[in-house]
Amino acid sequence: MARKIYIFDTTLRDGEQAPGIHLSVKEKLEIAHQLEKLNVDVIEAGFPISSASEFESVKEVASNIRERGVAALARAVKKDIDTAGQALKSAFQPVIHTFISSSDIHLEYQFKKTRDEALEMAADAVKRARDYTDIVEFSAMDATRSDRDFLCRLFEAAIKNGARIINVPDTVGYAIPGEFSALIKYISENVHGIEDVIISVHCHDDLGLAVANSIMAVEQGASQIECAVNGIGERAGNASLEEAVMVIDTRKKDLDVYTDIKTEEIMNTSSLVRYLTGYLVPPNKAIVGKNAFIHEAGIHQDGMLKERSTYEIIKPEDIGVKSSSLVLGKHSGRHAFVKRLEELDLRLEGEDLENAFNRFKALADKKGRINDKDLKAIVEDEIREVSQHFKLDFYQVISGTNVKATATIGIETGNGMQQAAACGDGPVDASFRAIDSITGLNTQLVDYNIEAVSEGKDAIGSVRITVSSEGKEVMGSGISTDIVEASIKAYVDAMNRIMETS
Ligand code: KIV
Ligand code: ZN
Repeated sequence: MARKIYIFDTTLRDGEQAPGIHLSVKEKLEIAHQLEKLNVDVIEAGFPISSASEFESVKEVASNIRERGVAALARAVKKDIDTAGQALKSAFQPVIHTFISSSDIHLEYQFKKTRDEALEMAADAVKRARDYTDIVEFSAMDATRSDRDFLCRLFEAAIKNGARIINVPDTVGYAIPGEFSALIKYISENVHGIEDVIISVHCHDDLGLAVANSIMAVEQGASQIECAVNGIGERAGNASLEEAVMVIDTRKKDLDVYTDIKTEEIMNTSSLVRYLTGYLVPPNKAIVGKNAFIHEAGIHQDGMLKERSTYEIIKPEDIGVKSSSLVLGKHSGRHAFVKRLEELDLRLEGEDLENAFNRFKALADKKGRINDKDLKAIVEDEIREVSQHFKLDFYQVISGTNVKATATIGIETGNGMQQAAACGDGPVDASFRAIDSITGLNTQLVDYNIEAVSEGKDAIGSVRITVSSEGKEVMGSGISTDIVEASIKAYVDAMNRIMETS
């Protein structure tokens, strides 16, 4: 009988550790609800000890998500575990995920602990976590660069003290598939009590092997994959959820395993995470890249027209790719708007719904016809939430072949409306300079991206930027049919996020 593979999603924890990502409590909750629709088994909501807002996010996710595990990360120390336990108090199925390093490199240079001390800390941590919940996961950080026998002793100590899940992280993404597979086999044959617990894997993608390693582990009996939507996470990221799930779904007969993921929610989830984190998805990314189902070569197109299976191993509809249709126009009313959102499974309520409707009307007035991609962009933009320290009131730009670009910007601040004008190397640069002189923040622009949300010359432009301020990177996004306005909105959004994180 096929074996179930549990999907432990760490988008909100390891994913959020990616440089520049800062999600508000509301944004984390939105993603958590989408992960619920996707039907992941566990949502790792955060690392509660790391900040007050992280604690708040875990608490909110824990009290709003039902019938799913909600995990909180904790180092193998008392105060982390107690804080995780508190944050998970109202969870339906709380999971404390505690960890300690197992490699000599980490123990000696970073933590200044002996192997015996690590063993004792692991045992104590798991025992303490069990006071809060029955579901305790223990991770041996840097497992793939650890002495195998010590690793097995560490896992035994965790199991003996009540761990239900043993996680094997390839923390630095160093393992190669045959080696990782052999490690999982070794653990399953040499850890006393392993048959009573779930073996989980957590692979990073530094060598581009995270999904391959996770699947190799599954073949050796691992029953849980830790992964993140769009593969986001520390450095090169985590195993990508959509890739791991679709490998299993596409090859389930050969692997003899399955997941409970509702694959038709993959595209919606990817798109929400992409928008709220500001991390773009490359067009050639497996499964969710925009070219993943486009057949360019003549011979491929010919084959596809004759029989889809010649060149297609996954149907776009399997992951929820819907063909975009023209649905609404400037005469469409509130009822049609709300109905279409429901059909697209886009959730908005109260003030957010009202704002989105007003934006839809304004856009329909400008553009005439509104398609599903436009609607999605409006809704995703509405879901984004950050405290409005600065609010764009107006902008005016002059630019051209023989004139120096100039921007005048008006921004609502805590001290009322402020205006500034600046010249620059083009309208975007001039606008950013004018905004800088209002906010007084010292920032550098690290990255700037623009893409069209849908097709056509009148498409909405979506701008994502990364700015750095005092060593910290944040991202900002903005949408508009006017790309200068989208850029200004993205910049103001980034300034608000700097204020929120400082
Ligand atoms: O990569 C890692 O080792 C981790 C652990 C905390 C599981 O993220
Ligand atoms: Zn990790």
